[in-house]
Amino acid sequence: MKRIGILTGGGDAPGLNAVIRAAVKTAIYEYDSEVLGIRNGYDGFIEANGIVPLTIESVRGLLPRGGTILGAANRGNPYARKIIRDGKEVMIDVSDEIIKGIKRLEMDALLVLGGDGTLHIAHELYKKGAPIIGVPKTIDNDIGGTELTFGFDTAVNTATEAIDKLHTTAEAHHRVMVLELMGRDAGFIALHAGVAGGADVILIPEIPFKFESILTQVRQRVRDGYLFSIIVVSEGAKPYGGEQVFSRGGDEIYVPRLGGIGQRVGEFIEKNGFESRVTVLGHLQRGGSPTPFDRWLATRFGAAAVRLAAEGKFDRMVALRAGKIVDVLLGEVIAITKRVDVNDDAVLAARGMSVSFGDE
Ligand code: F6P
Repeated sequence: MKRIGILTGGGDAPGLNAVIRAAVKTAIYEYDSEVLGIRNGYDGFIEANGIVPLTIESVRGLLPRGGTILGAANRGNPYARKIIRDGKEVMIDVSDEIIKGIKRLEMDALLVLGGDGTLHIAHELYKKGAPIIGVPKTIDNDIGGTELTFGFDTAVNTATEAIDKLHTTAEAHHRVMVLELMGRDAGFIALHAGVAGGADVILIPEIPFKFESILTQVRQRVRDGYLFSIIVVSEGAKPYGGEQVFSRGGDEIYVPRLGGIGQRVGEFIEKNGFESRVTVLGHLQRGGSPTPFDRWLATRFGAAAVRLAAEGKFDRMVALRAGKIVDVLLGEVIAITKRVDVNDDAVLAARGMSVSFGDE
């Protein structure tokens, strides 16, 4: 193995830089290999100055840094790239350019750090001959084949801290505080942070809710002497028989943007006689320094991905299973829709402690 490439696709997540650092150090120290960074996801193969050498010097001090030194692009799909031709916007397929780029740069492997969209593209590029190795990245924790993705723990920490802060002001003002969290169609962030922060109601996409049930919980708490409540809502949660709420529609480039369900819940609560405030935590969940756990996971993933590259085991993704780093076929990973198991012990534990999921 003489030279490998690394790219970070999709949205950023805390721990990307820690993976880059571990991969660069392992490639150089353990395999005496060169490393090239591809800027802004797959776009770097096509755009000017898109390739940068990565050295030990370039990864110094990266472990605690959020974001990604390589830049991310969540519109960077090489199979649907928007260009202007004859004054009109058209979509073109530039996947062959990527394959040519990998060959021209003589990369023996390409490490792709990404979520489901990026890994899907990676698998397609493998079929065209790219020596791909995937690393699962997302705060949403919704990638199949691995128990955890890096970035998730940091997002849960940030969300839990927000719940703790909302608790004190909710209690002081006797208010109902609604916190909308990210996660797309998976409720992992809301469930984990909701349980860790002691929320009274947790609404997740996997369990459709009834507005009336939320109210029942708030009223019960008042009867029990608790004049405030904390409601955690995953952005993808939807009412029973209803639809998810979007703040912006999708197009050929962008997926539809979830957002607004927290506001709906807050308005309903307020209309029914309880003073309520809504907080949307948003991209704070993606920012900042990764937690020690995410640094630890990212480092192990980065090193393991380089070892896979050295073994020539392509079209595979590094994964965490029962505490060990393993590898799984990308084809299997993208076929799985990973969601919260509604019979999971965390859900049962919360229910047992009278947390409402809005379904009873
Ligand atoms: O997939 C990560 C994520 O942060 C989701 O939780 C959220 O719905 C989405 O990305 C937001 O994307 P953007 O950064 O494009 O607004």
